[in-house]
Amino acid sequence: MLSLTNKRILLGITGGIAAYKSAELTRTLVKAGAEVRIAMTPAATEFITPLTMQALSGNRVHLGLLDSETEAAMGHIELARWADLVVIAPATADFIARMAHAQADDLLTTLVLASVAPIAVAPAMNQAMWGDTGTQANLELLRQRGVHVWGPGSGEQACGDVGLGRMIEPDEIATHCASMFEASKLAGKRFLITGGPTREAIDPVRFISNHSSGKMAYALAAEAAAEGAKVTLVSGPVQLSTPESVERIDVESAEEMYAAVMAAVASADVFIGVAAVADYRPTAVANEKIKKTEAEMVIKLVKNPDIISSVSEHSARPFVAGFAAETENVVANGQEKLERKGLDLLFANHATDTFNSDSVAVTALTKDGQQELGPGNKHTVARAMLSLIAEQLKAISKGHAG
Ligand code: C5P
Repeated sequence: MLSLTNKRILLGITGGIAAYKSAELTRTLVKAGAEVRIAMTPAATEFITPLTMQALSGNRVHLGLLDSETEAAMGHIELARWADLVVIAPATADFIARMAHAQADDLLTTLVLASVAPIAVAPAMNQAMWGDTGTQANLELLRQRGVHVWGPGSGEQACGDVGLGRMIEPDEIATHCASMFEASKLAGKRFLITGGPTREAIDPVRFISNHSSGKMAYALAAEAAAEGAKVTLVSGPVQLSTPESVERIDVESAEEMYAAVMAAVASADVFIGVAAVADYRPTAVANEKIKKTEAEMVIKLVKNPDIISSVSEHSARPFVAGFAAETENVVANGQEKLERKGLDLLFANHATDTFNSDSVAVTALTKDGQQELGPGNKHTVARAMLSLIAEQLKAISKGHAG
């Protein structure tokens, strides 16, 4: 069931035939628990009456900058500040153009400019107008500024044309609204993430390592922080800058990574082991640079601690997600690793496809099933991974409550 409890949604309605669907949209949002306030352009009032929208939203409709009655009740700046989310549905080509150029020549454009809340538009227009390069350039400007563009859909149009340009259905818009608030679904959660390779010293100048770039871990850290999590990233040596709002602890060897993780694990809600931790390290590290005297040399190795297994056995065990980069039988080996290491979730992928690449495709494995994520940019796939983790956390807390 859709939940928008106590969410404040400012719905802007512009003048297109799809405005009649804004009535149903308002009803759906209100039913889901949202508080809805409505601003209409003069053209919108030609398609649907403010009275209808007032009855459905339970609030007086805002019609103009110079409307002294509504301004007295809640001024336009106050209204812009009030909103948790601004949705323009339908958004006509003309409105999109004016918004793209940051105009503030009427109430709705002014509200959009004055609001710091996330903004979404649900375009509705004739298919040729939608396809016009000018419209598309305007939409690109909006996207660059972080405005969400929902739809349009394709199909028969009021003018008789068939094609892209129909406003998406009210229930789809309402679902998008709900997912905007889910964006902070990790708010307050503490994430501990390992990333990058480790370096296992042979002597003061040499080490054993691997090709891990750290990109997946850094994408996960950045996306988790963007969704409100408090993120600590224990990182091996990589060429990446620290994502915003992420606390980064630099380490070199597996033992250092193990120590840093163990020091932080008790206060974590979620642990994600992304690091390509070296399985073995030289038994002894030479104090001086090893000389090239022998024709052959042997480096004796000893097993490194398995960080993720230790986290999973910890008394204050967080939710544990791991990665398995395999070169063969990716899913079967992943499933075996999930069980052996006692993980809640494992992302299995093909080792050769992923190192240093910007894109990735994984199979997410749990005890009960599997699902494909990607292929896609590591940031996009990271968001899907985090959604899955959020779902699992929710299921666990429900299980505890029940
Ligand atoms: O290397 P392996 O395939 O076993 O890695 C699977 C998972 O275990 C990964 O999530 C990795 O970060 C983690 N791991 C670890 N400590 C190790 C080896 C692997 O945390 N020593």
